This record gives sequence, C-alpha cells and structure tokens, in this order.
Amino acid sequence: MDNSHLPSQPDRRDFLTKAASIVIGGSLAIAPVVAGIGVLCDPLRRKSEVGASIRVASLNAVPEGGEPVAFPAIITLVDAWNTTPNVPVGSVYLQRLKGGSVRALNASCPHAGCSVKYRPTDKDYFCPCHNSQFKLDGQILDLKSPSPRALDELPVEIRNGTEIWVTFQRFRAGTHEKIPV
Ligand code: FES
Repeated sequence: MDNSHLPSQPDRRDFLTKAASIVIGGSLAIAPVVAGIGVLCDPLRRKSEVGASIRVASLNAVPEGGEPVAFPAIITLVDAWNTTPNVPVGSVYLQRLKGGSVRALNASCPHAGCSVKYRPTDKDYFCPCHNSQFKLDGQILDLKSPSPRALDELPVEIRNGTEIWVTFQRFRAGTHEKIPV
C-alpha cells in the first residue's frame, strides 16, 4: 500500500504538540479576560441601601387611628463608581394604630409585583392586576386572591420622637415564603 500521502510519525507528533499548546495557551489568555469582566461588572451586582433603614415620613403625616397613607421608598444607590441619591425603589403604606405604633406594609403585591391600592370605602388593599385583596393588617382577605402570601410587613422604628424609619426590603413575588431580593 502506498502511504506516501500520510504525514510521517514525527510530523504528526509535532502537529499534536502545537495544537495542545494553542489550546492551553488560549485558555490561559482567556482566564484574565473573564476575571476582568467580572471585576468590571461587580459594581452592578452590589447591593444598594435596599434592606437598610430609611426615613419615610414624619409622625404627624400619619394620623393616629387613621387610615393608611402611601409614601415612596427613596434610597441612595451606591456602587463602586457612583453614589446616586433620591432613587425611588417602591412604596410603603404606613398606618398609625391606636396606641401610637406604626404598621408598614410594602405596597408591592406578592403575586406578581403590581402596586396595591388602599380602598377607603372597603377599608382594604386591592391589587388591580389580578384582583388580590388584603385586610388592613396585610393578611389575605379573599381566599380566591391569587397572591400566595400576605402583604409584606416591614420593620418600623420611631426616631427622635417624630421620624418614621422603615427597613425597606423587597421580596420575591409568587412565593409563599418571604424571600428577600
Ligand atoms: S400582581 Fe397583584 S394580584 Fe397579581
């Protein structure tokens, strides 16, 4: 048989050595690039003030024993490059109960994240997207409501005797458990 068209053994070994060095060299060159992209994107993944305590309102803006009042949740976004103040990230319903304590509910519907509205005539919260209804304490009012859980209550603190501070947190929509995001 004529094997004159096939490369000789040394040629084949040489080819395999070169191919292996190209593959190894290429992967070594890619590793720093991937790491660099990770560093560049890192600030985008950083947490902002979400989950921190923010001043939402003054006590006299929420009448004792009165109806819930909606306030925007405004935070300062911080990453490695920028500090951006006054960024609206949601809203909160505050209600001052008899006795003076304050209840804070995240206005985002736990079903799919639409904003719930307080209805003074029905004294409940209503989500216009898929008709979930909630009591004033945030519990589900109508068992046919598609929301998997009650409205998300947020920790409240009164500072300096006049300021309402809320630990603002968003939670995953569509789950029975409150999972911070
Ligand atoms: S988003 Fe509120 S009921 Fe669907």
